Amino acid sequence: MGIVDNHIQFTVVENGSDQIIETYVGEYRNLMVLLKNELYLDSFGECGGVGRCATCIVKASEITGNSAIKDRNEPTTLSKMGYEENNIRLSCQLLITKDLEGSNIEIIDY
Ligand code: FES
Repeated sequence: MGIVDNHIQFTVVENGSDQIIETYVGEYRNLMVLLKNELYLDSFGECGGVGRCATCIVKASEITGNSAIKDRNEPTTLSKMGYEENNIRLSCQLLITKDLEGSNIEIIDY
């Protein structure tokens, strides 16, 4: 049996400054909740994570696995805002998993 490594580390860019975020699988419900809590973003994530408000948009580079694919309401909500690029995402639809390890998450449109 190997040691289960739930540790996740990635970079968050806000207003041009980088910070390293360390978390673990299960610490937060999704990336929106993590960002709101760790960066004290007041009006971020207004719909509470149902994928409708578009106040949780990030540019997510170098995420891997299933997380790299837009899911559920994401494409509809994002295209209403004029975003069609694959790496522009609703952070509430990204779960805190190993797929985020080593990624670069830039907060935009906030
Ligand atoms: S929190 Fe509303 S769309 Fe993500």
